[in-house]
Amino acid sequence: MNKWQDIYQQKLCTAAQAVQLIHSGAICAVPIGVGEPTALLEAMVDRQDLRDVRVAQMIAHQRLRYLTPEESDRFRHISWFTSGTSRAAVQEGRADFVPCFYHEIPMLHRDYWQYDVFFATVSPMDKHGWFSFGVAVSEAHAMMSKAKLVILEVNRFMPRTLGQSMVHLEDVDAVIENHVPLPELASPPLTETDKMIGQYIADRVQDGSVIQLGIGGIPNATALALCSKQDLGIHTEMFTEGMMDMIEAGVVTNRKKNIHLRKCVATFALGTRRLFDFLDDNLGVEFYPVEYVNDPVTVAKMDNFVSINACVEVDLFGQVCSESIGPKQFSGTGGQVDFVRGASKSKGGQSFITTYSTAKGGSLSKIVPFLTPGATVTTSKNDVDMVVTEFGVAKLKGKTGCERARELIGIAHPDFRGELTKAAQKIHLIP
Ligand code: COA
Repeated sequence: MNKWQDIYQQKLCTAAQAVQLIHSGAICAVPIGVGEPTALLEAMVDRQDLRDVRVAQMIAHQRLRYLTPEESDRFRHISWFTSGTSRAAVQEGRADFVPCFYHEIPMLHRDYWQYDVFFATVSPMDKHGWFSFGVAVSEAHAMMSKAKLVILEVNRFMPRTLGQSMVHLEDVDAVIENHVPLPELASPPLTETDKMIGQYIADRVQDGSVIQLGIGGIPNATALALCSKQDLGIHTEMFTEGMMDMIEAGVVTNRKKNIHLRKCVATFALGTRRLFDFLDDNLGVEFYPVEYVNDPVTVAKMDNFVSINACVEVDLFGQVCSESIGPKQFSGTGGQVDFVRGASKSKGGQSFITTYSTAKGGSLSKIVPFLTPGATVTTSKNDVDMVVTEFGVAKLKGKTGCERARELIGIAHPDFRGELTKAAQKIHLIP
Protein backbone atom coordinates (compact mmCIF):
# COMPACT_ATOMS: atom_id res chain seq x y z
CA MET A 1 0.00 0.00 0.00
CA ASN A 2 1.45 3.42 -0.90
CA LYS A 3 1.21 6.57 1.22
CA TRP A 4 -1.99 7.83 -0.45
CA GLN A 5 -3.76 4.50 -0.12
CA ASP A 6 -2.85 4.50 3.58
CA ILE A 7 -4.33 7.94 4.10
CA TYR A 8 -7.37 6.95 1.99
CA GLN A 9 -8.05 4.04 4.36
CA GLN A 10 -7.79 6.37 7.37
CA LYS A 11 -10.38 8.74 5.83
CA LEU A 12 -12.71 5.97 4.61
CA CYS A 13 -16.02 5.65 6.48
CA THR A 14 -19.68 4.79 5.81
CA ALA A 15 -22.24 7.31 4.58
CA ALA A 16 -24.03 7.15 7.95
CA GLN A 17 -20.75 7.99 9.75
CA ALA A 18 -19.87 10.78 7.31
CA VAL A 19 -23.19 12.60 7.74
CA GLN A 20 -22.62 12.69 11.51
CA LEU A 21 -20.28 15.59 10.63
CA ILE A 22 -23.28 17.73 9.56
CA HIS A 23 -25.31 19.78 12.04
CA SER A 24 -28.77 21.32 11.96
CA GLY A 25 -28.73 24.68 10.17
CA ALA A 26 -25.89 23.56 7.86
CA ILE A 27 -25.60 24.67 4.23
CA CYS A 28 -24.36 21.84 2.00
CA ALA A 29 -22.95 22.27 -1.51
CA VAL A 30 -23.26 19.60 -4.20
CA PRO A 31 -21.93 19.47 -7.81
CA ILE A 32 -24.09 19.62 -10.91
CA GLY A 33 -26.10 16.72 -12.36
CA VAL A 34 -24.60 13.26 -11.94
CA GLY A 35 -21.95 14.68 -9.59
CA GLU A 36 -24.57 14.52 -6.82
CA PRO A 37 -23.59 11.92 -4.19
CA THR A 38 -26.74 9.89 -3.67
CA ALA A 39 -25.59 7.77 -0.69
CA LEU A 40 -24.53 10.85 1.29
CA LEU A 41 -27.67 12.84 0.42
CA GLU A 42 -29.93 9.92 1.37
CA ALA A 43 -27.98 9.23 4.60
CA MET A 44 -28.39 12.91 5.48
CA VAL A 45 -32.19 12.59 5.18
CA ASP A 46 -32.08 9.42 7.34
CA ARG A 47 -30.73 11.52 10.22
CA GLN A 48 -34.05 12.34 11.85
CA ASP A 49 -32.47 14.88 14.22
CA LEU A 50 -31.36 17.22 11.39
CA ARG A 51 -33.36 20.43 10.87
CA ASP A 52 -33.05 23.56 8.66
CA VAL A 53 -30.46 22.08 6.31
CA ARG A 54 -30.05 23.78 2.92
CA VAL A 55 -28.63 21.99 -0.13
CA ALA A 56 -27.18 24.21 -2.88
CA GLN A 57 -26.78 22.72 -6.35
CA MET A 58 -26.68 24.15 -9.88
CA ILE A 59 -28.94 21.43 -11.38
CA ALA A 60 -30.48 18.64 -9.27
CA HIS A 61 -30.66 15.47 -11.31
CA GLN A 62 -32.27 12.62 -9.37
CA ARG A 63 -35.48 12.52 -7.38
CA LEU A 64 -33.90 12.35 -3.94
CA ARG A 65 -35.89 12.64 -0.73
CA TYR A 66 -34.51 16.00 0.39
CA LEU A 67 -36.42 17.59 -2.51
CA THR A 68 -39.81 16.09 -1.64
CA PRO A 69 -42.74 17.95 0.00
CA GLU A 70 -42.57 15.42 2.89
CA GLU A 71 -39.06 16.61 3.85
CA SER A 72 -39.58 20.30 3.10
CA ASP A 73 -39.83 21.29 6.76
CA ARG A 74 -36.29 19.92 7.35
CA PHE A 75 -34.50 20.45 3.99
CA ARG A 76 -34.50 23.29 1.46
CA HIS A 77 -32.95 23.19 -1.99
CA ILE A 78 -31.16 26.19 -3.54
CA SER A 79 -31.16 25.92 -7.34
CA TRP A 80 -29.26 27.84 -9.99
CA PHE A 81 -31.21 26.14 -12.84
CA THR A 82 -34.40 24.18 -12.26
CA SER A 83 -34.75 20.73 -13.80
CA GLY A 84 -37.64 18.27 -13.98
CA THR A 85 -36.48 17.18 -10.52
CA SER A 86 -36.40 20.57 -8.79
CA ARG A 87 -38.94 22.58 -10.86
CA ALA A 88 -41.97 21.73 -8.69
CA ALA A 89 -40.08 22.59 -5.48
CA VAL A 90 -39.14 26.06 -6.83
CA GLN A 91 -42.58 26.74 -8.34
CA GLU A 92 -44.31 25.69 -5.09
CA GLY A 93 -42.01 27.85 -2.95
CA ARG A 94 -40.28 24.87 -1.27
CA ALA A 95 -36.91 25.75 -2.84
CA ASP A 96 -35.03 28.91 -3.75
CA PHE A 97 -33.76 30.00 -7.14
CA VAL A 98 -30.65 32.13 -7.78
CA PRO A 99 -30.69 34.20 -11.01
CA CYS A 100 -27.26 34.05 -12.65
CA PHE A 101 -25.13 33.75 -15.75
CA TYR A 102 -23.58 30.28 -15.72
CA HIS A 103 -19.98 31.52 -16.12
CA GLU A 104 -20.43 33.73 -13.03
CA ILE A 105 -21.62 30.95 -10.70
CA PRO A 106 -18.13 30.10 -9.34
CA MET A 107 -17.60 33.81 -8.64
CA LEU A 108 -20.99 33.96 -6.85
CA HIS A 109 -19.98 31.00 -4.65
CA ARG A 110 -16.66 32.65 -3.80
CA ASP A 111 -18.09 36.13 -3.14
CA TYR A 112 -21.48 35.45 -1.56
CA TRP A 113 -21.66 31.93 -0.11
CA GLN A 114 -20.12 29.99 2.76
CA TYR A 115 -20.72 26.24 3.06
CA ASP A 116 -20.50 23.93 6.05
CA VAL A 117 -19.91 20.90 3.89
CA PHE A 118 -19.18 20.02 0.26
CA PHE A 119 -20.35 16.55 -0.87
CA ALA A 120 -19.38 15.17 -4.31
CA THR A 121 -19.29 12.00 -6.37
CA VAL A 122 -15.83 11.38 -7.82
CA SER A 123 -14.01 8.70 -9.81
CA PRO A 124 -11.67 6.36 -7.86
CA MET A 125 -8.37 7.78 -6.56
CA ASP A 126 -5.21 7.17 -8.64
CA LYS A 127 -1.87 6.12 -7.16
CA HIS A 128 -0.87 9.78 -6.70
CA GLY A 129 -3.89 10.64 -4.53
CA TRP A 130 -5.99 12.34 -7.24
CA PHE A 131 -9.73 11.88 -7.81
CA SER A 132 -11.64 13.37 -10.74
CA PHE A 133 -14.95 15.26 -10.58
CA GLY A 134 -15.64 13.35 -13.81
CA VAL A 135 -18.50 14.78 -15.85
CA ALA A 136 -19.51 17.31 -13.16
CA VAL A 137 -16.63 19.83 -13.05
CA SER A 138 -18.61 23.06 -13.58
CA GLU A 139 -18.49 24.99 -10.25
CA ALA A 140 -17.28 22.08 -8.08
CA HIS A 141 -13.88 23.60 -7.26
CA ALA A 142 -15.41 26.96 -6.29
CA MET A 143 -17.97 25.33 -3.98
CA MET A 144 -15.28 23.16 -2.41
CA SER A 145 -13.09 26.21 -1.76
CA LYS A 146 -15.89 27.74 0.35
CA ALA A 147 -16.66 24.62 2.43
CA LYS A 148 -15.42 23.92 5.96
CA LEU A 149 -15.63 20.16 5.33
CA VAL A 150 -15.11 18.11 2.15
CA ILE A 151 -16.64 14.62 1.89
CA LEU A 152 -16.24 12.56 -1.30
CA GLU A 153 -18.36 9.65 -2.52
CA VAL A 154 -16.17 7.42 -4.67
CA ASN A 155 -18.04 5.70 -7.52
CA ARG A 156 -16.14 3.63 -10.08
CA PHE A 157 -18.95 4.33 -12.61
CA MET A 158 -17.97 8.03 -12.67
CA PRO A 159 -15.57 8.45 -15.63
CA ARG A 160 -12.14 9.87 -14.91
CA THR A 161 -12.11 12.98 -17.07
CA LEU A 162 -9.06 15.09 -17.84
CA GLY A 163 -8.37 18.82 -17.99
CA GLN A 164 -8.85 20.74 -14.74
CA SER A 165 -11.15 18.20 -13.15
CA MET A 166 -9.04 16.87 -10.28
CA VAL A 167 -9.33 17.00 -6.50
CA HIS A 168 -6.59 15.73 -4.18
CA LEU A 169 -6.97 13.50 -1.12
CA GLU A 170 -5.02 16.05 0.94
CA ASP A 171 -7.95 18.49 0.57
CA VAL A 172 -10.55 15.94 1.68
CA ASP A 173 -11.85 15.26 5.21
CA ALA A 174 -13.72 11.97 4.66
CA VAL A 175 -14.33 9.44 1.90
CA ILE A 176 -17.14 6.94 1.40
CA GLU A 177 -17.58 4.37 -1.38
CA ASN A 178 -20.80 3.87 -3.33
CA HIS A 179 -20.36 2.07 -6.65
CA VAL A 180 -23.67 2.56 -8.46
CA PRO A 181 -24.37 3.17 -12.17
CA LEU A 182 -24.79 6.86 -12.97
CA PRO A 183 -28.32 7.95 -13.91
CA GLU A 184 -28.68 8.14 -17.68
CA LEU A 185 -30.44 10.66 -19.89
CA ALA A 186 -31.57 9.27 -23.23
CA SER A 187 -31.81 11.55 -26.27
CA PRO A 188 -35.38 12.22 -27.41
CA PRO A 189 -36.32 10.85 -30.87
CA LEU A 190 -35.83 13.45 -33.61
CA THR A 191 -38.91 14.98 -35.24
CA GLU A 192 -39.13 16.29 -38.82
CA THR A 193 -39.32 19.82 -37.31
CA ASP A 194 -36.07 19.25 -35.39
CA LYS A 195 -34.41 18.12 -38.62
CA MET A 196 -35.64 21.15 -40.62
CA ILE A 197 -34.31 23.57 -37.97
CA GLY A 198 -31.03 21.64 -37.72
CA GLN A 199 -30.58 21.86 -41.50
CA TYR A 200 -31.22 25.65 -41.61
CA ILE A 201 -28.41 26.08 -39.09
CA ALA A 202 -26.04 23.63 -40.77
CA ASP A 203 -26.52 25.51 -44.07
CA ARG A 204 -24.99 28.59 -42.39
CA VAL A 205 -22.05 26.86 -40.71
CA GLN A 206 -18.73 26.80 -42.52
CA ASP A 207 -16.07 24.09 -42.26
CA GLY A 208 -13.65 24.67 -39.38
CA SER A 209 -16.25 26.35 -37.11
CA VAL A 210 -16.26 25.77 -33.35
CA ILE A 211 -19.65 24.58 -32.07
CA GLN A 212 -21.61 24.89 -28.79
CA LEU A 213 -24.87 22.94 -28.60
CA GLY A 214 -27.46 22.66 -25.85
CA ILE A 215 -29.60 19.66 -24.98
CA GLY A 216 -32.67 18.28 -26.76
CA GLY A 217 -34.10 17.40 -30.14
CA ILE A 218 -33.06 20.52 -32.08
CA PRO A 219 -29.39 20.45 -30.91
CA ASN A 220 -29.23 16.71 -31.67
CA ALA A 221 -30.73 17.26 -35.12
CA THR A 222 -28.24 20.06 -35.68
CA ALA A 223 -25.38 17.75 -34.70
CA LEU A 224 -26.66 15.26 -37.28
CA ALA A 225 -26.97 17.91 -39.99
CA LEU A 226 -23.45 19.14 -39.20
CA CYS A 227 -22.09 15.71 -40.11
CA SER A 228 -21.76 17.01 -43.71
CA LYS A 229 -19.02 19.46 -42.55
CA GLN A 230 -15.28 19.09 -42.04
CA ASP A 231 -12.81 19.94 -39.29
CA LEU A 232 -15.34 21.27 -36.80
CA GLY A 233 -14.30 22.01 -33.22
CA ILE A 234 -16.30 21.63 -30.00
CA HIS A 235 -16.24 24.07 -27.08
CA THR A 236 -19.41 23.71 -25.03
CA GLU A 237 -20.80 23.80 -21.52
CA MET A 238 -22.53 20.42 -21.82
CA PHE A 239 -20.94 17.55 -23.72
CA THR A 240 -23.66 15.44 -25.40
CA GLU A 241 -24.26 12.16 -27.24
CA GLY A 242 -24.69 14.15 -30.47
CA MET A 243 -21.15 15.51 -30.09
CA MET A 244 -19.75 12.03 -29.52
CA ASP A 245 -21.47 10.95 -32.77
CA MET A 246 -19.87 13.89 -34.61
CA ILE A 247 -16.43 12.87 -33.34
CA GLU A 248 -16.98 9.24 -34.28
CA ALA A 249 -18.15 10.32 -37.75
CA GLY A 250 -14.79 12.14 -38.21
CA VAL A 251 -16.49 15.55 -38.54
CA VAL A 252 -14.94 16.99 -35.38
CA THR A 253 -11.15 17.24 -35.46
CA ASN A 254 -10.56 20.51 -33.50
CA ARG A 255 -7.75 21.19 -35.99
CA LYS A 256 -8.82 24.77 -36.75
CA LYS A 257 -9.23 25.94 -33.15
CA ASN A 258 -7.27 29.01 -32.04
CA ILE A 259 -7.04 27.58 -28.50
CA HIS A 260 -7.15 23.98 -27.21
CA LEU A 261 -5.96 22.70 -30.58
CA ARG A 262 -7.11 19.08 -31.23
CA LYS A 263 -9.17 19.05 -28.00
CA CYS A 264 -12.90 19.29 -27.26
CA VAL A 265 -13.63 21.43 -24.20
CA ALA A 266 -16.66 21.12 -21.88
CA THR A 267 -17.64 21.71 -18.26
CA PHE A 268 -20.19 18.92 -17.62
CA ALA A 269 -21.91 16.05 -19.41
CA LEU A 270 -25.22 14.21 -19.32
CA GLY A 271 -26.13 11.18 -21.40
CA THR A 272 -26.03 7.41 -21.46
CA ARG A 273 -23.38 4.90 -20.32
CA ARG A 274 -22.04 4.96 -23.89
CA LEU A 275 -21.16 8.63 -23.43
CA PHE A 276 -19.62 8.12 -19.97
CA ASP A 277 -17.44 5.28 -21.32
CA PHE A 278 -16.37 7.47 -24.23
CA LEU A 279 -15.30 10.27 -21.86
CA ASP A 280 -13.38 8.00 -19.48
CA ASP A 281 -9.63 8.80 -19.70
CA ASN A 282 -10.25 10.46 -23.08
CA LEU A 283 -7.33 12.77 -23.86
CA GLY A 284 -9.35 14.36 -26.64
CA VAL A 285 -12.01 15.88 -24.33
CA GLU A 286 -10.98 18.19 -21.51
CA PHE A 287 -13.24 19.42 -18.70
CA TYR A 288 -12.58 22.83 -17.13
CA PRO A 289 -14.42 24.96 -14.53
CA VAL A 290 -17.32 26.89 -16.01
CA GLU A 291 -15.85 30.32 -15.20
CA TYR A 292 -13.28 29.54 -17.89
CA VAL A 293 -15.31 27.47 -20.40
CA ASN A 294 -18.34 29.79 -20.56
CA ASP A 295 -16.54 33.09 -20.11
CA PRO A 296 -17.48 35.15 -23.21
CA VAL A 297 -13.82 36.26 -23.31
CA THR A 298 -12.72 32.60 -23.74
CA VAL A 299 -15.42 31.98 -26.35
CA ALA A 300 -14.48 35.11 -28.30
CA LYS A 301 -10.91 33.84 -28.73
CA MET A 302 -12.17 31.18 -31.14
CA ASP A 303 -12.89 32.22 -34.75
CA ASN A 304 -16.17 31.17 -36.39
CA PHE A 305 -17.78 30.27 -33.08
CA VAL A 306 -21.36 28.99 -33.51
CA SER A 307 -23.72 28.88 -30.53
CA ILE A 308 -27.08 27.06 -30.70
CA ASN A 309 -29.62 27.29 -27.84
CA ALA A 310 -33.37 26.95 -27.44
CA CYS A 311 -36.05 29.31 -26.08
CA VAL A 312 -39.61 29.40 -24.75
CA GLU A 313 -40.82 32.53 -26.60
CA VAL A 314 -39.54 35.58 -28.53
CA ASP A 315 -41.34 38.92 -28.77
CA LEU A 316 -41.41 41.19 -31.80
CA PHE A 317 -38.63 43.35 -30.32
CA GLY A 318 -36.37 40.27 -30.28
CA GLN A 319 -36.45 39.77 -26.50
CA VAL A 320 -35.91 36.08 -25.79
CA CYS A 321 -37.40 34.23 -22.82
CA SER A 322 -35.77 30.83 -22.41
CA GLU A 323 -36.33 30.03 -18.77
CA SER A 324 -39.86 30.78 -17.60
CA ILE A 325 -43.41 30.04 -18.67
CA GLY A 326 -44.97 33.35 -17.73
CA PRO A 327 -43.98 33.96 -14.10
CA LYS A 328 -43.18 30.28 -13.43
CA GLN A 329 -39.46 29.47 -13.38
CA PHE A 330 -38.98 26.60 -15.85
CA SER A 331 -35.17 26.26 -16.11
CA GLY A 332 -32.53 29.00 -15.90
CA THR A 333 -30.34 31.31 -17.94
CA GLY A 334 -27.63 28.66 -17.96
CA GLY A 335 -24.92 29.44 -20.48
CA GLN A 336 -27.19 30.87 -23.15
CA VAL A 337 -26.12 34.51 -22.74
CA ASP A 338 -22.47 33.55 -22.12
CA PHE A 339 -22.32 31.89 -25.55
CA VAL A 340 -24.49 34.45 -27.37
CA ARG A 341 -22.15 37.22 -26.17
CA GLY A 342 -18.98 35.20 -26.78
CA ALA A 343 -20.09 34.32 -30.33
CA SER A 344 -20.88 37.97 -31.07
CA LYS A 345 -17.25 38.88 -30.29
CA SER A 346 -15.78 35.88 -32.17
CA LYS A 347 -14.38 36.67 -35.63
CA GLY A 348 -16.99 35.15 -37.97
CA GLY A 349 -19.11 34.08 -34.97
CA GLN A 350 -22.86 33.42 -35.13
CA SER A 351 -25.48 32.61 -32.51
CA PHE A 352 -28.80 30.87 -33.14
CA ILE A 353 -31.81 30.84 -30.83
CA THR A 354 -34.04 27.96 -31.88
CA THR A 355 -37.70 27.21 -31.28
CA TYR A 356 -40.65 25.44 -32.84
CA SER A 357 -43.01 28.11 -34.21
CA THR A 358 -45.82 26.90 -31.92
CA ALA A 359 -46.40 25.12 -28.58
CA LYS A 360 -49.33 23.20 -27.09
CA GLY A 361 -50.32 21.30 -30.22
CA GLY A 362 -50.14 24.38 -32.46
CA SER A 363 -52.59 26.42 -30.35
CA LEU A 364 -49.95 28.91 -29.15
CA SER A 365 -47.44 30.96 -31.17
CA LYS A 366 -43.91 31.08 -29.71
CA ILE A 367 -43.32 34.32 -31.62
CA VAL A 368 -45.43 36.82 -29.66
CA PRO A 369 -46.10 40.58 -29.81
CA PHE A 370 -45.09 40.93 -26.14
CA LEU A 371 -43.61 38.41 -23.74
CA THR A 372 -46.21 36.72 -21.52
CA PRO A 373 -46.73 38.82 -18.36
CA GLY A 374 -44.23 37.66 -15.74
CA ALA A 375 -41.90 36.03 -18.28
CA THR A 376 -38.24 36.90 -17.74
CA VAL A 377 -35.83 38.03 -20.45
CA THR A 378 -32.93 35.61 -20.91
CA THR A 379 -31.23 36.96 -24.05
CA SER A 380 -31.86 40.67 -24.51
CA LYS A 381 -32.92 42.32 -27.76
CA ASN A 382 -29.45 43.87 -27.97
CA ASP A 383 -27.67 40.52 -27.70
CA VAL A 384 -29.83 38.34 -29.94
CA ASP A 385 -28.42 37.49 -33.38
CA MET A 386 -30.55 34.90 -35.26
CA VAL A 387 -33.82 33.16 -34.37
CA VAL A 388 -34.71 29.92 -36.17
CA THR A 389 -38.01 28.05 -36.49
CA GLU A 390 -39.15 25.38 -38.98
CA PHE A 391 -40.12 28.32 -41.24
CA GLY A 392 -36.59 29.69 -41.57
CA VAL A 393 -34.00 32.00 -40.03
CA ALA A 394 -34.69 35.56 -38.81
CA LYS A 395 -31.51 37.64 -38.80
CA LEU A 396 -32.06 40.39 -36.21
CA LYS A 397 -28.64 41.81 -35.37
CA GLY A 398 -28.05 45.27 -36.82
CA LYS A 399 -31.60 45.65 -38.12
CA THR A 400 -34.23 48.29 -37.29
CA GLY A 401 -37.19 47.54 -35.05
CA CYS A 402 -39.44 47.34 -38.12
CA GLU A 403 -37.08 44.99 -39.99
CA ARG A 404 -36.74 42.75 -36.93
CA ALA A 405 -40.50 42.50 -36.46
CA ARG A 406 -40.94 41.62 -40.15
CA GLU A 407 -38.17 38.99 -39.96
CA LEU A 408 -39.78 37.40 -36.88
CA ILE A 409 -43.30 37.43 -38.37
CA GLY A 410 -41.77 35.73 -41.43
CA ILE A 411 -40.67 32.71 -39.37
CA ALA A 412 -43.86 32.54 -37.24
CA HIS A 413 -46.42 29.85 -38.06
CA PRO A 414 -48.60 31.10 -40.99
CA ASP A 415 -51.74 30.77 -38.80
CA PHE A 416 -50.40 33.54 -36.50
CA ARG A 417 -48.75 35.90 -39.00
CA GLY A 418 -51.92 38.00 -39.52
CA GLU A 419 -52.49 38.73 -35.84
CA LEU A 420 -48.77 39.36 -35.24
CA THR A 421 -48.77 41.88 -38.11
CA LYS A 422 -51.82 43.67 -36.68
CA ALA A 423 -50.23 43.78 -33.22
CA ALA A 424 -46.99 45.21 -34.68
CA GLN A 425 -48.95 47.85 -36.61
CA LYS A 426 -50.95 48.83 -33.52
CA ILE A 427 -47.78 49.86 -31.71
CA HIS A 428 -46.28 51.39 -34.89
CA LEU A 429 -43.48 48.84 -35.02
CA ILE A 430 -44.34 48.31 -38.68
CA PRO A 431 -46.34 50.72 -40.89
N1 COA B 1 -45.84 28.92 -23.73
C1 COA B 1 -46.31 27.96 -22.91
N2 COA B 1 -45.71 26.77 -22.77
C2 COA B 1 -44.60 26.56 -23.48
C3 COA B 1 -44.06 27.51 -24.36
C4 COA B 1 -44.74 28.74 -24.48
N3 COA B 1 -44.29 29.70 -25.27
N4 COA B 1 -42.95 26.99 -24.92
C5 COA B 1 -42.77 25.78 -24.41
N5 COA B 1 -43.77 25.50 -23.55
C6 COA B 1 -43.98 24.28 -22.80
C7 COA B 1 -43.99 23.07 -23.73
O1 COA B 1 -45.28 22.81 -24.22
C8 COA B 1 -43.50 21.99 -22.81
O2 COA B 1 -44.56 21.59 -21.96
P1 COA B 1 -44.88 20.06 -21.73
O3 COA B 1 -43.61 19.52 -21.05
O4 COA B 1 -46.05 20.10 -20.86
O5 COA B 1 -45.08 19.49 -23.09
C9 COA B 1 -42.48 22.70 -21.94
O6 COA B 1 -42.83 24.07 -21.99
C10 COA B 1 -41.05 22.52 -22.44
O7 COA B 1 -40.94 22.98 -23.75
P2 COA B 1 -39.88 22.37 -24.76
O8 COA B 1 -39.88 23.21 -25.97
O9 COA B 1 -40.10 20.90 -24.92
O10 COA B 1 -38.56 22.57 -23.92
P3 COA B 1 -37.12 21.94 -24.04
O11 COA B 1 -37.02 20.81 -23.13
O12 COA B 1 -36.75 21.76 -25.47
O13 COA B 1 -36.25 23.13 -23.43
C11 COA B 1 -35.75 25.40 -23.00
C12 COA B 1 -36.30 24.41 -24.01
C13 COA B 1 -35.74 26.76 -23.68
C14 COA B 1 -36.62 25.48 -21.77
C15 COA B 1 -34.29 24.97 -22.60
O14 COA B 1 -33.51 24.87 -23.75
C16 COA B 1 -33.66 25.96 -21.64
O15 COA B 1 -33.87 25.85 -20.45
N6 COA B 1 -32.84 26.92 -22.15
C17 COA B 1 -32.22 27.95 -21.32
C18 COA B 1 -30.80 27.65 -20.95
C19 COA B 1 -29.87 27.42 -22.10
O16 COA B 1 -30.11 27.75 -23.23
N7 COA B 1 -28.73 26.85 -21.75
C20 COA B 1 -27.65 26.58 -22.65
C21 COA B 1 -27.61 25.23 -23.23
S1 COA B 1 -27.44 23.82 -22.16
